[in-house]
This record gives sequence, C-alpha cells and structure tokens, in this order.
Amino acid sequence: MIGREGGRILVTGALGQIGTDLVQSLRDIYGSDMVIASDIREKPNHPCILNGPYINLDVLDKDRIFQIINDQNIKIIYHLAAILSARGEENPELCELINVEGTRNIFDAGREFGLRIFTPSSIAVFGPDTPKKAPQVTPLNPTTKYGMTKVECEILGMMYYQKYGVDIRGIRYPGLISWKSPVSGGTTDYAVDIFHAALSDESKYDCFLNGDTRLPMMYMDDAIRATISLMDAPIDSLSSARCGYNISGLSFTPKELVSEIKKRLPDFVCNYKPDIRQNYADSWPDSIDDQVSRNDWNWQSRFGLETIVDEMISNLK
Ligand SMILES: NC(=O)c1ccc[n+]([C@@H]2O[C@H](COP(=O)([O-])OP(=O)(O)OC[C@H]3O[C@@H](n4cnc5c(N)ncnc54)[C@H](O)[C@@H]3O)[C@@H](O)[C@H]2O)c1
Repeated sequence: MIGREGGRILVTGALGQIGTDLVQSLRDIYGSDMVIASDIREKPNHPCILNGPYINLDVLDKDRIFQIINDQNIKIIYHLAAILSARGEENPELCELINVEGTRNIFDAGREFGLRIFTPSSIAVFGPDTPKKAPQVTPLNPTTKYGMTKVECEILGMMYYQKYGVDIRGIRYPGLISWKSPVSGGTTDYAVDIFHAALSDESKYDCFLNGDTRLPMMYMDDAIRATISLMDAPIDSLSSARCGYNISGLSFTPKELVSEIKKRLPDFVCNYKPDIRQNYADSWPDSIDDQVSRNDWNWQSRFGLETIVDEMISNLK
C-alpha cells in the first residue's frame, strides 16, 4: 500500500539530478519494488536507480504512459522529465514540447486513472518585475522560454484540478545542490560544478555567473523532504498555491560560496567569466517568501551554507 491510494509510484525523468535522489528516498520509505524509475535514456548506471525496477519511457508517448500505468498499477507519479533553463533557451521548441506537452500527457493520465501527481515548477517563473524577495502571489512574467513553460504548467495543473479533480501538486524549486549525480543544462549548475572543480587536482573553476549574483538555492536533502511532505499533506490543507508553492532554503552569491570553500580548500581559485546564463540569473529574484508553504504544510528548511559545503566536500571526496 502506498499512501491513501494503494498501488505503485512512477518517477519520470528519474535519471536526472532530482530523480537520482528522489527514487532512492521513495524506495527507502515504500520499498524498492513499489517505485518504478523511468527515463527517455535507455540504460541507467547509477546504483540509486539500479536497485529497483526501471522502464524506458518518453513522456511524449501518451499511449505507452497509459499502458504502463494500467499494467503496473500506478497510483502516484513524480513527473520530473523536463528540459532545464540553459538547454531550453538553446532549443525553445523542444523545451515547449517536452515541458508542456509531456506534462499534459501526465495530467491526462491523472484524469483517466485518478492519480496523485507531483510536477515541479521553478523560480524561473519569476521575471524582472518580481520583487527581489519573491512573494507567493505576484505577476509571473518570465523572460526565458523555460520559465514560460513552468508558468504554463502551473496554470494547466490548476485547470486539471479545478475542472477534472486531478490531485496535482508542485513546488517552485530554487537552484538545487547535490552530489549524487552530475548536473547540466541549468543556470544554477555552477553551485554543483564548483565543488567537483575545487576537489580536482587543479583546484580551479571558471564560474559562468559573476561573483555578486545572489540566487535562491537549496540542498537536495531539503528539496526531497519538501517534495515528499507536500505529496503526503492532506488534500484539504492545500491552497490555491498547490501547483507552485514557493519554498526557501538559503540565498548566496558565487563569491560567498567560494569564500566558504576556501576555508576548507585554501588553494582553490575561482575566476568569473559570465556567459548568457548571467542574463537568466539576472531576471530571477534574490530570495523567496515561503510563508504560504509554512502555513499550509509546515515547510521549514534545515540546511545552511556551512553545512552544505561540509556535506558536498565530504561526500564528493
Ligand atoms: N535541478 C534544479 O536545480 C531544478 C530547479 C528548479 C526546477 N527543477 C525542475 O525539476 C525537474 C527535474 O529537474 P532535474 O534537475 O532532475 O533535471 P535533469 O535535467 O537533471 O533531469 C531531467 C531528466 O528528464 C529526462 N528527459 C528528458 N526528456 C525526456 C522525455 N521526453 N521523456 C522522459 N524523460 C525525459 C532526461 O533524460 C533527464 O534524465 C524539472 O522539471 C526541472 O525543471 C529543477
């Protein structure tokens, strides 16, 4: 039995940064066999994924989604398959297709089979007119294609909830810091790449954002705990923020992160060479107001900068 519905859990996009951690946590809670990892990539090679069932699944293939849900008695989906910000700006058509059509297919499955669905949003929904500390309710005018797809999915999720009663829930994740899998295609990736570079023989990193760019960030353990808590929350505790809850972890600049790393690795050198990703970062807020999540489902972050740096260095070593 899984939660209220019984049945099994399907995770899409499971081989990515979040999936690698989330699948392991869900299997620890519910048992390996109850959690089916899936991705468009054919061969998983990560131990977190290899210790349970894996299915090759393209979220654009609606028939196959429906067939898997039916055959495997799926009752809950964590829908992580997406194209992230930097890669999305390089290929906006693909970003729109996978992020919006892929999500619509999952929502249609939710409607057909009565599923509970988690679908992540992002701080990329915010735009230059958002206050520097982003409120839960504020105009959403993103400048990136990626951000636009996330706004579309929040609106679509609310429509499926209100019109068809599909229990869709989502979080506007900040930039996520983790060590279990490599990252690529995102604007906050520097905060993971920098640790790999700091621990390399050269101990040198060229940061693609300038040193004073303050962004909302979160350690993966906090993000996974938030995700599972939101999915476990009683449905009547959730408000109109249900498809895109703000959550806050911490905010820091590359310079502040470098300073913490240098306390542990004094020879580390970081140069700042901003590229196009600087423009995306400049359009996002510095920090997040998460009072609504605190009220609705008792959200509270745990990891601060010093602990994150200690954890990243000790795990990556
Ligand atoms: N990582 C972050 O910092 C962050 C921040 C905000 C929001 N998010 C959101 O969280 C979700 C997961 O992010 P992530 O960091 O794990 O991304 P990721 O890029 O690491 O992983 C995405 C996965 O989706 C898979 N995928 C791509 N196209 C697919 C398709 N057509 N069918 C099935 N799988 C497909 C990829 O192979 C990849 O394994 C996304 O919706 C992302 O927008 C992530």
